[in-house]
Amino acid sequence: MQIQDVFTAYKTDLQQMEKYLDKYLTSEVKLIPEVAHHLIDSGGKRFRPLLLLISSRLCGYDGDHRFPMAAVMEFIHTASLLHDDVIDQATIRRGKTSANNIWGNAASVLVGDFLYSKAFKLLSEISDIALIKLMSGITNVMSEGEVFQLMKCGDVNITEEEYLNIIEKKTAVLLSAACAAGAILGSASEEKIDALYQFGYKIGMAFQITDDTLDYMAQEQEFGKSIGKDLAEGKMTLPLIFALRSATKEERDQAIDLIAGKEGNQKVIPVILSLIQKYKGIDYSLQSAAKYIKDAQDLLRIFSGYRPEIEHLNAVAQYVLARRI
Ligand code: IPE
Ligand code: IPE
Ligand code: MG
Ligand code: MG
Repeated sequence: MQIQDVFTAYKTDLQQMEKYLDKYLTSEVKLIPEVAHHLIDSGGKRFRPLLLLISSRLCGYDGDHRFPMAAVMEFIHTASLLHDDVIDQATIRRGKTSANNIWGNAASVLVGDFLYSKAFKLLSEISDIALIKLMSGITNVMSEGEVFQLMKCGDVNITEEEYLNIIEKKTAVLLSAACAAGAILGSASEEKIDALYQFGYKIGMAFQITDDTLDYMAQEQEFGKSIGKDLAEGKMTLPLIFALRSATKEERDQAIDLIAGKEGNQKVIPVILSLIQKYKGIDYSLQSAAKYIKDAQDLLRIFSGYRPEIEHLNAVAQYVLARRI
């Protein structure tokens, strides 16, 4: 099964979710829908809502709360992208000029705040204390992740463990929550809620690792973001962390000087790229992502008997490894 087939299987559900996105983006303050629609309508994958809808179905929930809950996921994701592009001084997002580049940092941050608070308003209307606890916990961790990443910006001594800690916080916990929330809606057992939480965590880790790998190897037009931007932003990601760890002292010192900007910017990307190539940083990262995916798939064994939703989750997991956008 391909990822497109999974999206097709949830098409009607996703359309219902879109209605909530649209409905909750209204405000008499015109700049809010303008900025928010710019990003929301620009072709995001809707990956987190999809996860929530699959896990809801898997856990036998077909009530109406799944639509606003899926919208909550996308609102939080969108808010984090608006903020992220300010922090990263991004110029493009989803192949279009990023909001910060059109309306400036202040507008992006404020509309991001609007989306966060809107997500919690929607969540409070669903009025399930377990969901409120889950979402308030993970959004708090996401903020921590971004601050931790900021502290580690440009730090050539960052360890793989610290990197993994950052991506767990900034990315994986939201995917965990998307999977666990469907199970909570379906009043699944603690064991199943936990298995889906862990499944989301594992694919979330793999998702950010592949994202960081694509930053070095994707086609810009297809990926919809600038290539090589992580390094330019001072973001030390797994392909580079691994290459630096494997390099000779001489290579390492040269790379560190380049990254610190001591020799101007021209040579940085080609030298770093060839270092990553020489020490197979891409292969290492993709293998690490593949391991997370395998662990994620193993977690699904807790669901016995044939379930189409398990096939869907397996296809999603495979897609995370294979994706180019
Ligand atoms: C981008 O997420 C941010 C990361 C966690 C890497 P997506 O790749 O899901 O972004 P969209 O929503 O499809 O644009
Ligand atoms: C992931 O961070 C985005 C969030 C978790 C908010 P990145 O900075 O690596 O993501 P992109 O590459 O800008 O999408
Ligand atoms: Mg970014
Ligand atoms: Mg970022």
